[in-house]
Amino acid sequence: MLWTLIRRHIRPYLPHIGAVVVLQLVAVLATLYLPSLNADIIDNGVATGDTDYIWRVGGLMLAVAMVQLIAAIASVWFGARVAMGMGRDVRRSIYRRVDRFSTEEMGRFGAPTLITRATNDVQQVQMLVLMTLNFMVMVPIMAIGGIIMAIQEDPGLSWLVWVSVPVLMLIVGLLVTRLMPLFERMQTNIDSINGVMREQIMGIRVVRAFVRERHETARFEDANATLTDTSVRIGRLFVIMGPAITVVLHLATAAVLWFGGHRVDAGLVQVGALTAFMQYLLQILMAVMMGTFMFMMFPRAIISARRIGEVLETLPTLAEPAHPVAIEADGGGASLEFRDVTFSYPGADSPVLDGVSFTAEAGKTTAIIGSTGAGKTTLVNLVPRLHDATSGQVLLDGVRITELSRATVSRAVGLVPQKPYLFSGTIAHNLRFGDPEASEEQLWEALETAQATEFVAERTTGEGDAVAKGLESAVSQGGTNVSGGQRQRLCIARTLVARPRLYVFDDSFSALDVTTDAKVREGLAHRTRGATTLIVAQRISTITSADQILVLEAGKIVGRGTHEELLESSQTYREIVDSQISVEEPA
Ligand SMILES: Nc1ncnc2c1ncn2[C@@H]1O[C@H](COP(=O)(O)OP(=O)(O)OP(=O)(O)O)[C@@H](O)[C@H]1O
Ligand SMILES: [Mg+2]
Repeated sequence: MLWTLIRRHIRPYLPHIGAVVVLQLVAVLATLYLPSLNADIIDNGVATGDTDYIWRVGGLMLAVAMVQLIAAIASVWFGARVAMGMGRDVRRSIYRRVDRFSTEEMGRFGAPTLITRATNDVQQVQMLVLMTLNFMVMVPIMAIGGIIMAIQEDPGLSWLVWVSVPVLMLIVGLLVTRLMPLFERMQTNIDSINGVMREQIMGIRVVRAFVRERHETARFEDANATLTDTSVRIGRLFVIMGPAITVVLHLATAAVLWFGGHRVDAGLVQVGALTAFMQYLLQILMAVMMGTFMFMMFPRAIISARRIGEVLETLPTLAEPAHPVAIEADGGGASLEFRDVTFSYPGADSPVLDGVSFTAEAGKTTAIIGSTGAGKTTLVNLVPRLHDATSGQVLLDGVRITELSRATVSRAVGLVPQKPYLFSGTIAHNLRFGDPEASEEQLWEALETAQATEFVAERTTGEGDAVAKGLESAVSQGGTNVSGGQRQRLCIARTLVARPRLYVFDDSFSALDVTTDAKVREGLAHRTRGATTLIVAQRISTITSADQILVLEAGKIVGRGTHEELLESSQTYREIVDSQISVEEPA
């Protein structure tokens, strides 16, 4: 999974990686050269008192050190560019994929984990790429080169290498295997913190209203404590690692001095060679340590890559057709037909819609009425293809919507959802969603029809220099800084600006008072003339003038016809009418 992910995103950076390899090669060769030069100075310069020689070789050493430094810096620079660039690309891939998810895939993952995956998990993979790039060339060459050079300096001490390297590997390896499961837990812990936090922020009013603060706080504390616990355990293992490594390094140094000192005494080796040997041994141990650190990043990155891969490999159930059919983009209303449509939510055992068939003729108004939970929202959501019918077909202008491109469907169908949602930005920015080119005049026209002119014109947000008025006034995420009825009207206006051929209003007048409701519908009747309208409503008064009314009960159409016809033919319809006459003004 990790390799697939990296392979898929590494291509644009191959030249950079080439540069990293070359620069590291230069740096590591310089690093390996330095101790032997040092030995040279001691044995041939200091020991013989040849100051000239010391200056010459010293100068060379300085130059080599400079080359090493510059190559190392440049290599890190290129490495960072690759890792960060790849991180950006992976995040982009995730975003694009999630963008195409239907409610089904969204429901399967849930927002919190998608957010963690796009941020924290990507960061883990990014870190691994960075570490690998920084160490992949250096570590093996430094380890093997160091061993060769050390043995060359003094073969008699080589056993020290064979002892200290496995000891260090064993210690670090033991710690790493204990770290792996903790890293996996850490990612899930971050998910659940995100989840609790998100729910709390979104539901803050409910929490307040029901005085559930203490309960919610406890839930957060719980998730927080779990994350802390995992982090502390990881920290503890890291704390052991530092000193353990230092001890091994110092013991190795002491051993070199002890055994080497005797050998110098016995005239078996020169002081300079011994110094070089010691430096090489330290380089070898450093390389081993860095290598192990790199491997330590792997388990965490593998887990993160798997989590990212799950997202990237989830094919949206709403696939784009390979050869999309074109239908008229502008012009009069589109006709809509449901042919024996059945729909079940994933995991549910009984269908929400069962054998629904009807035709909404072009330019006509079709209303859907039914008790709460009857499946009205589910039905209208099939029209803009928020999900696909389990069986049966939805046709637009006689063409199955699965054969149309997403763009075609969204241009033709304008949905005002039951739960209106606005995006953070200005009112104008929200209204232009369906038509970025719309002029201010067009925006005001749409607002006028939606009975929103007054409140938009009077609206101001911000203070001081940031004060904004009217169309430029600010809307917060979700539209939480306008009232429910205002939000509903803005959403109606947004759909009007897009000028679709088929309007779908899902209970879009519920938050409006009766007078405003009537005014909006009057305006709409005028504005949407020629377009097809599908309207879900609770109030009978909203739909009496519809060309066709469908009565939906438990996912089935149990009555259809005009208001007058239904009063005659449908028991259910009469019951709904009767229940409302008492509460509304008699017509
Ligand atoms: N995302 C979902 N996953 C599973 N079941 C769902 C989902 N959304 C709705 N349902 C179920 O489908 C049924 C119909 O819901 P739907 O929202 O279509 O009703 P509705 O007629 O629009 O009701 P209302 O008048 O309250 O808006 C309900 O029983 C509901 O529990
Ligand atoms: Mg509904």
